[in-house]
Amino acid sequence: MPDTITITDNRTGKKYEIPVHDGMISATDLRQIKTSEEDFGLGSYDPGFMNTAACTSRVTYIDGDKGILRYRGYPIEELAEKSTYLETAYLVLYGELPTKAQLDDWTYNITHHSILHENIKKFIDGFHHDAHPMSILISTVAALSTFYSEAKNIFDPESRQKQTYRLVAKMPTIAAFAYRHSIGMPFAYPDNDLSYTGNFLNMLFKMTELKYQPHPVLERALDVLFILHADHEQNISTNVMRGIGSAHSDPYCSVAGAAAALYGPLHGGANEQVLRMLNEIGHKDKVPGFIQKVKAGEGRLMGFGHRVYKNYDPRAKIIKKVAYEVFDVKGRNPLLEIALELEKIALEDEYFVKRKLYPNVDFYSGLIYQSMGLPIDMFPVLFAIARTIGWIAHWQEMLLDPEQKNKIARPRQIYKGAQKRPYVPLSQRK
Ligand code: CMC
Repeated sequence: MPDTITITDNRTGKKYEIPVHDGMISATDLRQIKTSEEDFGLGSYDPGFMNTAACTSRVTYIDGDKGILRYRGYPIEELAEKSTYLETAYLVLYGELPTKAQLDDWTYNITHHSILHENIKKFIDGFHHDAHPMSILISTVAALSTFYSEAKNIFDPESRQKQTYRLVAKMPTIAAFAYRHSIGMPFAYPDNDLSYTGNFLNMLFKMTELKYQPHPVLERALDVLFILHADHEQNISTNVMRGIGSAHSDPYCSVAGAAAALYGPLHGGANEQVLRMLNEIGHKDKVPGFIQKVKAGEGRLMGFGHRVYKNYDPRAKIIKKVAYEVFDVKGRNPLLEIALELEKIALEDEYFVKRKLYPNVDFYSGLIYQSMGLPIDMFPVLFAIARTIGWIAHWQEMLLDPEQKNKIARPRQIYKGAQKRPYVPLSQRK
């Protein structure tokens, strides 16, 4: 059977044979379907990209119905159990697990790019004490572009490599400095003896001790959380990264844009909103009333639902396990009871069952972060640190893809505004 479909245009009676590749038709193939010579040709309308692929990719595979997530072919469950964040980051970027020598080199380069230029501290100092750390992160990562002007050489592989080291290395430092600024504490500098997440905990929590020793369970828990957040194919922030990158902006400005998209409560800001929601509910007994309100259309159950996962989010399963490991060290988070009750009721309730709404990655991650001593508004920042490698991998893939090269991301629109009309002088306007 040929891999084509035949479209009959009932407006003209003409038939068109359109090739099908990978279960998709090319939207530009529709352009030949016209009612007249002047007709621009048929298009497709898809607000929110519900059924449109904008690229081919080899980074991450998701099967939403089966609850499958794989980075470069490796199941997320295996990576969460056996890998480390830096090893996974290497895999996401380069496509293969590193050899020992490659991992050592990668780790060395990330570790040795974590210090920020001293002037950056001045920017951070300039932010108001209650500035949201995600806003500080977004602004500061964009400001990095003023320090590394060679970053605009996006087609130079060496420059791309250098900016990659810097971005992956400096995101935790910026994030930790934003946190220390918010609590009025002096900045803690990176410690090169520690792991990626161990050092991040050091920069967040070091007080007067000479050497900070991260708790191994918390260090590993954070590492697993970072692995789970490293990439998620064409989500909104990655799409923004590709979109900005398609205009050939430098990677710092592109990451700032991607992080801005991540900040939104429907995306990476959801982990923060889950905690605010649990606090608002306040007690297990109030869960049924809250569910009623959600069903009546008064807000959403944050941390539930996903555009792609319609069965379960495999990351949520792993996170729930990690949560209990952290609670064993730090004590049970009092909000856990409310979360468990919400999950139980929602999973039985017809409204949620019918719409295939399940807990997503953000439902439990916030409880873990809170138990580790992080304030709620730092949660999206943690997501951004981990996702940086995914953004870079997609940005690079887009830049090097012959089908994407020099193609600026530019959707079409259906114009329904006013037709041509003459300018009305101010004195004649009603
Ligand atoms: N609570 C209540 N109802 C919901 C929820 C929710 N969390 N999510 C979707 N619905 C309803 C929605 O009202 C709609 O109902 P109806 O058909 O009656 O109009 C139906 O389910 C389909 O919703 P949708 O908005 O068309 O679904 P979507 O695939 O476009 O949205 C989503 C996905 C994640 C934006 C949405 O589920 C949501 O807003 N969830 C809460 C925010 C959240 O937890 N975001 C984190 C996502 S995971 C991390 C990441 O990758 O960003």
